[in-house]
Amino acid sequence: MKILFRNPAQILTVDTKGLHYKRGKELSDIGVITDHSILVENGIIADFIANSSITKTTADRVVDLDGGFIMPGLVECHTHAAFAGSRSNEFRMRLKGASYEEIAKAGGGITSTMHAVRSSSFEELVKLLKPRINHFISQGVTALEIKSGYGLSYYDEIKLLQVINYFRKKSAIEIIPTFLGAHTYPPEYKNDHKQYLDLIITELLPYIIKNKLAYHVDAFCEATAFSAGEVDKIFTKAKKLGYKLRLHTEQFNKVGGLDIALKHHALSADHLEVISEEDIPKLAKSNTVSVLLPGVSLFLEHEYAPARELISHGAIVALSTDYNPGSSHIPNLHLIMQLAALKMKMSVEEIISAVTINAAKAVDLNEKIGSIEIGKQADFAVFRAQDYSEIIYNIGINLNMYTIKKGEIIYHNPEFQ
Ligand code: NIG
Ligand code: FE
Repeated sequence: MKILFRNPAQILTVDTKGLHYKRGKELSDIGVITDHSILVENGIIADFIANSSITKTTADRVVDLDGGFIMPGLVECHTHAAFAGSRSNEFRMRLKGASYEEIAKAGGGITSTMHAVRSSSFEELVKLLKPRINHFISQGVTALEIKSGYGLSYYDEIKLLQVINYFRKKSAIEIIPTFLGAHTYPPEYKNDHKQYLDLIITELLPYIIKNKLAYHVDAFCEATAFSAGEVDKIFTKAKKLGYKLRLHTEQFNKVGGLDIALKHHALSADHLEVISEEDIPKLAKSNTVSVLLPGVSLFLEHEYAPARELISHGAIVALSTDYNPGSSHIPNLHLIMQLAALKMKMSVEEIISAVTINAAKAVDLNEKIGSIEIGKQADFAVFRAQDYSEIIYNIGINLNMYTIKKGEIIYHNPEFQ
């Protein structure tokens, strides 16, 4: 089946010349093509065809993009979207001056969502997650990572991963599950960290990969969560079992997490709001993606990660919402892109690379998705605009017209029908 996506105002290829990521200056080159259409064959990008040479026999089906621009489907590479309950009470406490860390220490925060998740059934969690996934799809997201980390017991972590995997099999888009059992110590192990670490290392890690519930492991390395030494133990075992690694690190305090992420060649180091100046070149030279989460800085009124310094040292920078009920209750990747521009001074082109090919690298799918290159999966977002700057300039409006997965339109914005 040959489908022609005809007549886009622009094609943003985010071409990497076969490298499948962009570092430093390369983020600025998003390979804009005009006067061409894209031919997709059996879900794979087959060719770019000059509009002047299109004939009747070029395709079985034609989708007229009618003046919109087409780009790789957005990749949302860091979310905690599988949660229950609300933390609006904590939000109100923060508005009155309490800090996120104080609330966590007083038994709120991640632990409060943990209670809500533990008391929810598989079916209830499915019902909560479904519209959240659909909301990302409506923005042009074609791959979505979702972490566990709110169960924090053998039974409840597996339950959450089963919920995420239900959508991995059923959803029109790629869902990437990540095991985040090391999110925080649950109350029953507060005074016995060793026993919770043992549960993760000797029981959960082997069970989860054996049952194909996740291939990526994440942890929260922070003064109020897991120490660098504890993460090192988890990562050492996880790597032996065949997992790829991610790490929440340098969010509030520097406790040695970045060195552990680099030592284990993690796919990504996420947050980095308080990364030290000396550490920037170390991370920038590595193949570990710097996943920046400016929604957290907005939501917690916290400092922003040093995007400019990371890029000028050559880092592979990606952006994501970190969508979760406590530190970034923001399920909107477009807003994150806008914050990256306004608050972190990233250029429009750098932002586009950061939510496509580099985000795909953070979830280890960059050889298959994240750019419009011949041979890659035909995952696209089509925006109703003549020029791609419009998606940063228009705040609070969803300009996404079509979300396309493997060449099929899976979402058509009713506002543009
Ligand atoms: O990425 N930093 C740790 N975890 C999440 C917050 C989770 C929560 O507050 O529920 C984050 O910010
Ligand atoms: Fe997070």
